[in-house]
Amino acid sequence: MPKPTHIAIIMDGNGRWAKARGLPRVAGHRAGVEALRQAVRNAGDFGIPFLTVYAFSSENWSRPASEVSDLMGLLRLFIRRDLAELHHNGVKVRAIGDRVGLEPDIRAMIEEAENLTAGNTAMTLVIAFNYGGRDEIARAAKKIASAAEKGLLSPDAVTPDAFGAFLDTGGIPDPDLVIRTSGEQRLSNFMLWQAAYSEFVFLPCYWPDFGREHLSEAIDTFMGRERRYGGVAARDAAS
Ligand code: IPE
Ligand code: IPE
Ligand code: MG
Repeated sequence: MPKPTHIAIIMDGNGRWAKARGLPRVAGHRAGVEALRQAVRNAGDFGIPFLTVYAFSSENWSRPASEVSDLMGLLRLFIRRDLAELHHNGVKVRAIGDRVGLEPDIRAMIEEAENLTAGNTAMTLVIAFNYGGRDEIARAAKKIASAAEKGLLSPDAVTPDAFGAFLDTGGIPDPDLVIRTSGEQRLSNFMLWQAAYSEFVFLPCYWPDFGREHLSEAIDTFMGRERRYGGVAARDAAS
């Protein structure tokens, strides 16, 4: 199996990392941003064309207001501090998730990051922010229904490929490998459509501890897997 083209990461365990050190949860989120910076650099070094990170889910609004505000603040800080370097390194930034529910200044920052880096080709960093798989699918269905209502789209044209193009990830290949840290083994509403045939690697380490070796080992694990997409293994096809 060749290297994955697209790796998607559910960055989980910041709170538990902090708790284990007797620190407030926000300290875990801050350490998580540092791990994210390194993950982007490492994915670039390993020649991974697409990296998606799950940074804030559509369900994370149910956390205490102070934690939500800390997470919003960290996204602002990340874009402010890292955008120039990402751009310098040829990283194209894209965001997926519902922007309508975000503060206007965050929306503007996301748009600025996307516009500035739109022409970059070294690597694509997809930030899933205020993202939920079901919400994304419902918003895509809404766009399709409205196009059909206007007579711009025939119901017969709604194939899986056509549907996929209406998702926030339109134009981005499906993730080959989904990594989740912190020992939890669930999707938590992440890429429900796109992960149909992804390989999964669950790691016990908390996100702030995720380093170059973890990424490299996850890639090796992926390369040792066999993907069949409902078919039979190539070596068994003739027998
Ligand atoms: C992941 O860490 C970051 C976000 C969900 C924003 P958590 O905050 O979920 O950390 P745990 O799972 O409580 O340890
Ligand atoms: C998933 O982690 C969301 C992100 C990593 C942004 P959660 O910590 O929110 O997921 P649950 O609540 O454990 O399922
Ligand atoms: Mg969590």
